[in-house]
Amino acid sequence: MAPSPPETPAKEHTSELTEAEIAVHWKEEEGFIPQPKFIGQANLTDPAVNERFSLEHFPECFREFGDMLTWDKYWTQTLDSSNAPFYQWFAGGKLNASYNCIDRHLAQYGNKAAVIFVGEPEGEDPVALTYNELYARVNEFALLLRDFAGLKTGDRVTIHMPMVAELPITMLACARLGIIHTVVFGGFSGEAAGRRAADSQSRVVITMDGYYRNGKMIDHLQNLDVACETAKSEGQVVDKVLIWQRYPGKVSSAKPLVPGRDFLVNEAVKPFKNKIVAPVSMPSEAPLFLMYTSGTTGRPKGCQHSTGGYMAYAAGTSKWIQDIHPTDVYWCTADIGWITGHTYIVYGPLALAGTTVIYEGVPTFPDANRLWRIAERLGVNIFHTAPTAIRQLRKLAPDGPKNFRTVFKNMTTVGEPIEPTTWHWFYETVGKGKAAVTDTWWQTETGGVVCTTKPALDKMKPGSAGPGAPGIHCVIFDENGNEIPPGSNRAGNICVRNPWPGLMQTIWGDPEKFKRQYFVKYNKNPNSKDWRDWPYFAGDGAMESADGYFRILGRIDDVINVAGHRLGTKEIESACLTVPEVAEAAVVPIMDEVRGRLPEVYVSLKPGIQPSKAIEDKVVRAIETEIGKIARPSAVRIVPDMPKTRSGKIMRRVLASISNTMEVGDITTLANPDIVEQIRLQVQGTGKVQTKAAAPEIKDFGAKSE
Ligand code: WTA
Repeated sequence: MAPSPPETPAKEHTSELTEAEIAVHWKEEEGFIPQPKFIGQANLTDPAVNERFSLEHFPECFREFGDMLTWDKYWTQTLDSSNAPFYQWFAGGKLNASYNCIDRHLAQYGNKAAVIFVGEPEGEDPVALTYNELYARVNEFALLLRDFAGLKTGDRVTIHMPMVAELPITMLACARLGIIHTVVFGGFSGEAAGRRAADSQSRVVITMDGYYRNGKMIDHLQNLDVACETAKSEGQVVDKVLIWQRYPGKVSSAKPLVPGRDFLVNEAVKPFKNKIVAPVSMPSEAPLFLMYTSGTTGRPKGCQHSTGGYMAYAAGTSKWIQDIHPTDVYWCTADIGWITGHTYIVYGPLALAGTTVIYEGVPTFPDANRLWRIAERLGVNIFHTAPTAIRQLRKLAPDGPKNFRTVFKNMTTVGEPIEPTTWHWFYETVGKGKAAVTDTWWQTETGGVVCTTKPALDKMKPGSAGPGAPGIHCVIFDENGNEIPPGSNRAGNICVRNPWPGLMQTIWGDPEKFKRQYFVKYNKNPNSKDWRDWPYFAGDGAMESADGYFRILGRIDDVINVAGHRLGTKEIESACLTVPEVAEAAVVPIMDEVRGRLPEVYVSLKPGIQPSKAIEDKVVRAIETEIGKIARPSAVRIVPDMPKTRSGKIMRRVLASISNTMEVGDITTLANPDIVEQIRLQVQGTGKVQTKAAAPEIKDFGAKSE
């Protein structure tokens, strides 16, 4: 990895140092051509796709994706953009997502595995659910939602569950009735789940008693009462909780049930066994689910995804980019609690009658070869994972994959940039030089992949996510809205010129924020109803090479991507401030060899309070309680004061520079410049530290959209 050319940070207008700016930058690499054997069987091999999906053919090109679904009523308008940037895809059409993922496959694939669940304990054999069985389980659970929990079309439900087969069953049962699900990552705390339940106004929560993680049974139900209390304190009463059991009939949690509120699914479902409920025909634009994600403000926002547009995009990209056929065994190691799991574990693969694998545990339990054993045993041929997992496995067992008979045809990565050294190991050792490697860049907001190679058509280039996916036309703008041309070796803000079916519809309950956050920055005419005037602003820094491949540098806002998981610095700071001794908190991203980035916490204490290890521990615990263990910081640094501007704003960029041993830049305008050297000594010690310069040409970045 070549460090970037020395370039002094020149961003007077904000006090932050972003992920994109601490990015390590690597050299442009040669391309690799996919294997003929892969091309021979791929779903998308016709190069005319580029022409068919050119801007000239927008939006009608997306008919091809809409036509991959089964509609109860065919749409009348492919794109209704009369209220840009609020779009309606496949307007006038009606369909049901669970019908598209299950019912329509029964005649041909009823006896084929839809979902294969692999528990973490290796003594437990994998369990396959056929499409017939999935149909039965989804129907009975949908009836329970309707007739026992009293839910109806349009209601919201919060689902706080681990990686088990019951999670897609729950989601598809909601979808069957048009109930909008909000899945909260199982590793998030009760508080985090409760806040999402309140924001989405969920009166029903669905959870599970326990699950295995790293060899231990986690008592997940312990989060429940806190979640309900948090929701209540924010004005939302949870009056019914449905609890799946990891082992039906056996108690795996010490938490007593709350009478009248908490119900065990395997008891409550009995009256509905073997009963069928017709899928509710939903308008294309009806919301299918909300997925909360971190943004620039303290509160996570609920990204609202549609039924028709989202499903069409999930199916289309799963077919063309993941290359899923009904005969494939596809495994995505993401968690269903994130958008990747929604689109590429549940909705996309099942819409295509694929077989999707769900693994309960961590990749390294009981050892770093666990994933290869699972893949070998199940005959997984499409493997989808995050660079952070690849780095970790490579570090622990660099020759591990060589000992297995795994044969992958396509290996997709998502969540973070994959640096060339990691890419090469993945390609050569995991894929044995035979599998295509497909690096996909996208976001919770985008519903599906945005930049990616088309695996049988485009050369793979280590370190680059690739060109825009079919029908996605990306552009890089500088701060002033000028296009940065391809090949200019300058970074800027990556945007998409046009809408697409997977793009979120709005932020739940806050359409103005949706507009402000994603579209206002480069809009020149606020009254325009023409989609061309509303480029989608993604919030990532990127560079485009001469051949139209995009290299993503990272977030340019207050979001830190930790091991492929998106965390808001403001959320972590609010958590720190719940510790009574803490006066001020600042969270900055630091580079980490395995996890990409980690949050590092700086706090100053209230007058008269002495720093101590006990306070540091309290801060860590507060973060785990408010958010979850994934947000645990690399370090908590108690400093005598924060570096501040004369107007009192904390200069996080100075702290980030110190944490990342980068040059701190000009600090003469600070109110308290002396503190900088004090903090530097505290963090870096007295030895002379070689400082690094920041990422390339950062002067083109820096959008704070809010
Ligand atoms: C980052 C996950 C580089 C990016 C699907 C984005 C990536 C954020 C890549 C979204 C990639 C995702 N290369 N960076 N291939 N994929 N990112 O919402 O910063 O959890 O904005 O969606 O992850 O994270 P989110």
